[in-house]
Amino acid sequence: MRVLILGNGAREHALTWKFSKSKRISALFVAPGNAGTGEIATNLPDVRPTSAEEVIQACRTYRVDLVFIGPEDPLASGIVDALQKEKIPVIGPPAKSAQLEASKAFAKSFMVRNRIPTAEHRTFTSYPELERFLLSTPKRVVLKKSGLAAGKGVLESADQKELLQFARRTLQEDQLVVEEFLDGFETSIFVLCDGSSYQILPPCMDYKKAYDGNQGPNTGGMGSICPVPSVTTSLMNRIQTEVIKPTIEGLDKEGLTYKGVLYLGLMITNEGPKVLEYNVRFGDPETQVLLPLLSIDMGNLAEAIVTGSLHQLPFNSAEKTAVGVVIAAPGYPGTYPKGLPVELDIPKGSDGTLIFHAATQRDPKGNLQTNGGRCFTVVGIGKDIFEASVRAYDVVPRVRFDGAWYRKDIGKLLPHPI
Ligand code: AMP
Ligand code: GLY
Repeated sequence: MRVLILGNGAREHALTWKFSKSKRISALFVAPGNAGTGEIATNLPDVRPTSAEEVIQACRTYRVDLVFIGPEDPLASGIVDALQKEKIPVIGPPAKSAQLEASKAFAKSFMVRNRIPTAEHRTFTSYPELERFLLSTPKRVVLKKSGLAAGKGVLESADQKELLQFARRTLQEDQLVVEEFLDGFETSIFVLCDGSSYQILPPCMDYKKAYDGNQGPNTGGMGSICPVPSVTTSLMNRIQTEVIKPTIEGLDKEGLTYKGVLYLGLMITNEGPKVLEYNVRFGDPETQVLLPLLSIDMGNLAEAIVTGSLHQLPFNSAEKTAVGVVIAAPGYPGTYPKGLPVELDIPKGSDGTLIFHAATQRDPKGNLQTNGGRCFTVVGIGKDIFEASVRAYDVVPRVRFDGAWYRKDIGKLLPHPI
């Protein structure tokens, strides 16, 4: 099987790594890829994932049998529809289903229509109407830009002036969803869908805030764990019956079913699990901790999704735990320099650890340098969360570049079960 992966983050490095271990793979390409994927696959740096023309051309040139799409932008712009028209097997939703992620207004009405537990909400298109609402509501609220925003379109604040400023700015370009603020802890649930059946993967948690103690601004994710100790078997059962089942049935009823990954961002509240958001792809940095725990051949898994035979694959529950620590450039999630020289001082055969590159590249002499905000995810794998976290943090300081920083509490700061 000749596989092309679209994207260039640590999620795509983890996907590439998992595919590279498959017995089914004869050639592996990543477009555009990063310095890490370049070590285990062929990078196609000139192929833009959002250009259907360039991706289809690459599939023809490299005789690709299957395309796996990492990030949301190409999905929202219809890359799957374009590939399907060319009869190229692909894992990911068509644009119609990708609206579940690309439009929070669409996702919220889907949840209401299908009675899926979620925060109460209203969608606004006009500022004066929204201002009247915000000034009169006694409730604490969260504001969300409806469209894609790379994790930066949500404001949780008790400061009314800040809320109004954010709302005015957002409404100039998009709809705004206002939600009641939910208390609880978050978990990310990934569901593989093959068009007729589905498979739920072990629960993950993403540490979204920039700084230790869950302080500071939201980021794309500064760390992750899998599985999550506070997501017990009985809570997983509730998530399945109260959230996943009605979601899958709703997708079916509304003609939105697809072959790919459904990601449910949940808040576990006192009243039970509620959906904060849907995404239609794997998460970053969750993928980096999830895939190493799946004892399944990625080629077989991809084939099962495409052919609709997921139910025939054996899925064992994860016996180990993985902790992933993101190493970021100075200034992230604000502005940051690129091109910082990187030194990786990692002894060969480091047991129980993996390093996934995110924004990295090689300079013309072949030296490794940074190329963005989130630069690496270091993953530790162990028999429990303590061992996994110790293993990750043993290696983190060995990834060196000027101003490199990371959270110190990934896998240590854990939510209390509800
Ligand atoms: P979203 O893109 O909708 O997942 O929102 C991004 C982040 O904002 C979430 O992961 C939560 O940390 C926070 N958030 C979103 N909606 C709510 C809510 N209704 N109540 C509390 N926090 C929220
Ligand atoms: N982990 C958050 C995301 O992938 O959107």
